[in-house]
Amino acid sequence: MERKAFLRTLGAGAAFALTFPCVQGCSKDDDGGLPIPTGVDFTIDLTSSEGAQLQNNGDFILKNEVVVVRNLQGNFIAASQICSHQQTDQVRFIDDDGGIFYCSTHGSRFSQNGAPLNTITNNPLKIFNTELNGDILRVFE
Ligand code: FES
Repeated sequence: MERKAFLRTLGAGAAFALTFPCVQGCSKDDDGGLPIPTGVDFTIDLTSSEGAQLQNNGDFILKNEVVVVRNLQGNFIAASQICSHQQTDQVRFIDDDGGIFYCSTHGSRFSQNGAPLNTITNNPLKIFNTELNGDILRVFE
């Protein structure tokens, strides 16, 4: 049976589904974007010019595809700069709702522990450990 005849036997709805499989399902998670950072372990000297960018509550920097943040309470936190939705590198910290992670690509919002705050994705954002020893901030898995 030829393809056209086969599709005709399935009816118009099935033919449409076979011909246009992406109409409902192409915006799925994990769509082959940038890799989520792994093996993260680096330090930032808070007395350096790099560290000076974390001087105020709400400040953040991007380093090794990690968003390193001094949150609104003055605590250091860190999350993947690569979004858990479709793996773009657009995750940033914003001061909405007491401070959240936000990806501007499609609008995903994540709590500071990585939990999704809207329905764009169910995938949690990867969070890293932070440890402050004097003026040296360590970010690690
Ligand atoms: S890649 Fe879609 S919201 Fe981040």
